[in-house]
Amino acid sequence: MIKAKQTWSPETYLRHGVFVSLLGEPVVQILNPKEGEKILDLGCGEGILTEKIIASGADVLGVDNSAELIEGAQHRGLKVACIDALEMTFDEEFDAVFSNAALHWMSPLSKIFENVYRALKPGGRFVAEMGGAGNIQSIRMALYNALSRRGVDPTLYDPWSYLGDSSARTMLERVGFQVRSINLIRRPTDLPGDIGPWLETFAGSFMQAIPEDLHEGLIDEVRDALQPTLFDPHNKWVADYVRLRFKVIKPA
Ligand code: BEZ
Repeated sequence: MIKAKQTWSPETYLRHGVFVSLLGEPVVQILNPKEGEKILDLGCGEGILTEKIIASGADVLGVDNSAELIEGAQHRGLKVACIDALEMTFDEEFDAVFSNAALHWMSPLSKIFENVYRALKPGGRFVAEMGGAGNIQSIRMALYNALSRRGVDPTLYDPWSYLGDSSARTMLERVGFQVRSINLIRRPTDLPGDIGPWLETFAGSFMQAIPEDLHEGLIDEVRDALQPTLFDPHNKWVADYVRLRFKVIKPA
């Protein structure tokens, strides 16, 4: 089986992807970090939101499986480690685990949720937002169509796992969490520019299906397919994001 892997460049992410972190600020408010709390930021990337959590006075460790992004976060002076969430062995160490726009890159989520549960102290909270069922569906379908036309099975290159609210609830409760809130939220999102750089930044694993000299043609075809639905009358690209946002507790 082909194992497509998304690769990240801190420079490209800061130029074209930083809006994803900035839109996660309401999730930091739900986390409501307190001075002295030990908090794990799971899938911290460059550490944009890690810094916001640290501003509360909490002691924050950021983890991500991208060595490139972790290097970027280290340059910002953050306490971070390059760890795959599937390999995490933290045991009752954190008052809270936070995650924004990262969990949909990880699978199987049932195993990730088990690792988060173990990492939390009894009474600890897990507050997260991720892509939910239907997230960027039109972009995903345009990528699927473009690869299928080239004789490639796109499912082999799809890195994303999007849960609905009821399947996420079942998965979290099975691990032992008590669900305080869980919501699926449609959030059409203005992109900072053209959809081409978005595809280059976030759809790298689909690009791996074809030789590099054909990437531009694929991006042009996907852009043309999406223009009628995602390019609005104010000359902005608006992506069809759907968020799954939840707060769950490990019983004391
Ligand atoms: C998201 O945050 O939902 C997302 C961002 C980039 C690619 C896929 C999903």
